[in-house]
Amino acid sequence: MLHGKRILLIISGGIAAYKSLDLIRRLRERGASVRCVLTDSATQFVTPLSVSALSEDKVYGDLFSLTDEAEMGHIQLSRDADLLVVAPATTNILAKMAQGIGDDLATTVLLATDKDVLVAPAMNVRMWEHPATRDNISVLKSRGILFAGPTEGNMACGEFGEGRMVEPLEIVAEIDDYFSTSAPLAGRHAVVTSGPTHEAIDPVRYIANRSSGKQGHAIAAALAGMGARTTLITGPTHEADPAGVEIVRIESARDMHDAAMGALPADIAVCAAAVADWRPAATGERKIKKRDEGTPPALDMVENPDILRSLSAAGNQRPALVVGFAAETDDVVDNAVSKRDRKGCDWIVANDVSPATGTFGGDDNTVHLVTAEGVDDWPALAKTDVAARLAERIAQHFQSLPEAAE
Ligand code: C5P
Repeated sequence: MLHGKRILLIISGGIAAYKSLDLIRRLRERGASVRCVLTDSATQFVTPLSVSALSEDKVYGDLFSLTDEAEMGHIQLSRDADLLVVAPATTNILAKMAQGIGDDLATTVLLATDKDVLVAPAMNVRMWEHPATRDNISVLKSRGILFAGPTEGNMACGEFGEGRMVEPLEIVAEIDDYFSTSAPLAGRHAVVTSGPTHEAIDPVRYIANRSSGKQGHAIAAALAGMGARTTLITGPTHEADPAGVEIVRIESARDMHDAAMGALPADIAVCAAAVADWRPAATGERKIKKRDEGTPPALDMVENPDILRSLSAAGNQRPALVVGFAAETDDVVDNAVSKRDRKGCDWIVANDVSPATGTFGGDDNTVHLVTAEGVDDWPALAKTDVAARLAERIAQHFQSLPEAAE
């Protein structure tokens, strides 16, 4: 279940830290990779050497380590993770999280992250019940921080009550649950193309199309929202950059092709860009002069590379699922079915872009999903809802695959 998932485990300084050693083992047994950050006080309870041996990775702890900041800054640590787990989470680190304090590597990573965070609190029952802790917990819950425990039981301090960290296997179950419900695409890489391309005629003129990039950007956002590492390769658009997505800006179809092929390996490719089929054969170094008399210059055109086709034929680099779009003005579904065969992709999202539909540049889209199993007609939806539904279908597709087939 956790195969390929990347966990950043932050260990703070509580006696329950010894259980985190077992947590590392349990996560790794299930195929997850675990990278660890220790607070200073955690090192009083467990040694970086034990943590490093169990995680088979370097252990991070120093915010001002010159080598770490050069190779792997606090931003990179969270970028390279699918989920952050704080176990044990002491009352101190929870208070710092609630207040937005970043005074060491662990708290700085927690501030810098755009990933979800699961905490497993561990503290004395009075500390857990203290009004300051209660307030901090409700702030953290309102911000979407996920909680595993604490539970009730005998404590290391000799008292009994709520505040005990839940057992490692219960934390593993929460992490499993998180990935299957909130981030089903965690550990997957998605490449999405979006927007129009600009094909230069000369240094000041170009040929373009009316694609707004709304649909492609919404798909990138939806895939990233489901936990996929997402690379969005976009032509010039007015759309804002979706959060948590790596953006590659290009202008021409040839650049988009190179960027898409260069982004492999990937598990998922969605080609939503409106790529120019042709480009001017020769792009002069100088602006073509206007002529007052005589015939206007003729444009000789040559064919552009087909990105969808290239991704579908990328051999052992071929993404497991390649999705193309078919913007049609008539015989929408029939054309899409034959396009799926012709292009060699797995799915085609067919949409009617005849001017009356207002699809180009508009906020809504009516699409038909063409797969090997048949055609699924979707109702008219906002482009963001089309994106969410497509991402959902993609996640279902991967969840239904036996692991060996991946
Ligand atoms: O052949 P047509 O342009 O209708 O196919 C549309 C699909 O192919 C879209 O998914 C589009 O992003 C993709 N495409 C491409 N590279 C091209 C032309 C189209 O990726 N040069």
